[in-house]
Amino acid sequence: MVILKSDVDVEGVREAARIASQALRVAKDLIREGVSAKDIDDAVRDFIISQGARPSFLGYEVEDKIYRYSTCVSINNEIVHGLPLHSKVLKAPMLIKVDVGVYKDGYHADTAWTFALGNVPEKARKLMMATKEALYRALDVIRPGRKISDVTFTIDRVARRYGFYPAENLTGHGVGLELHEDPVIPNNPKDLDKDGRIRRGMILAIEPMINESTERIVTLHDGWTVVTADGGWSAHYEHTIFVSADGVEILTEDVDG
Ligand code: MF3
Ligand code: CO
Ligand code: CO
Repeated sequence: MVILKSDVDVEGVREAARIASQALRVAKDLIREGVSAKDIDDAVRDFIISQGARPSFLGYEVEDKIYRYSTCVSINNEIVHGLPLHSKVLKAPMLIKVDVGVYKDGYHADTAWTFALGNVPEKARKLMMATKEALYRALDVIRPGRKISDVTFTIDRVARRYGFYPAENLTGHGVGLELHEDPVIPNNPKDLDKDGRIRRGMILAIEPMINESTERIVTLHDGWTVVTADGGWSAHYEHTIFVSADGVEILTEDVDG
């Protein structure tokens, strides 16, 4: 069921989104060799709590599993849902994807970004650029009346134009009262099932995950970490956005620069 948002709801998500973006900056400022993914998780959790908010991911239940962390930290070939473990130590060159959700006064926001540590290969730089471009081009097509599949086809087209692949089985989603609401917004066209219209009042998390060399994914035995099937690297950018009468208002922030 799609939950359309009122102006009051939008202000609530806007505040959660502001905190989520600041939390990503906290993560970004920590990124250097020797820091562990747990250090990032601890700092992000403490920051979110200092803002009178709660990490949306902490205690999140999917199927019969409970997520025990405040962030997902996914490295190189890890696409998403990487666990922020003490044993995961940053070392150049690395692509680090940090995903964070914030719950404040009844509203969730969700945002993710990709950071390069050190001299990553040229192909990885191009992958980051392509994935970020896919996000912003997808936001450009969103307006009331457009189809969900228009978003999917845009992400796919940008990925393939650069010779890359949108990850299968991984999607954007509605967000706001819950972390994950309808509609489901596939990144890969083969995951399109029933299509739907984008409507004014939707709040959506748009989150292209794009892989260097295959669309295929594998979930590790930890039950969470999703990796590329061939070990190629992956990038991920996610904004929470509001669909207004004439287009999109981006509620989370670009944390580059
Ligand atoms: N990566 C997901 C998203 O952005 C949320 C992760 S839920 C968790 O929608 F429990 F795995 F953290
Ligand atoms: Co997210
Ligand atoms: Co999301």
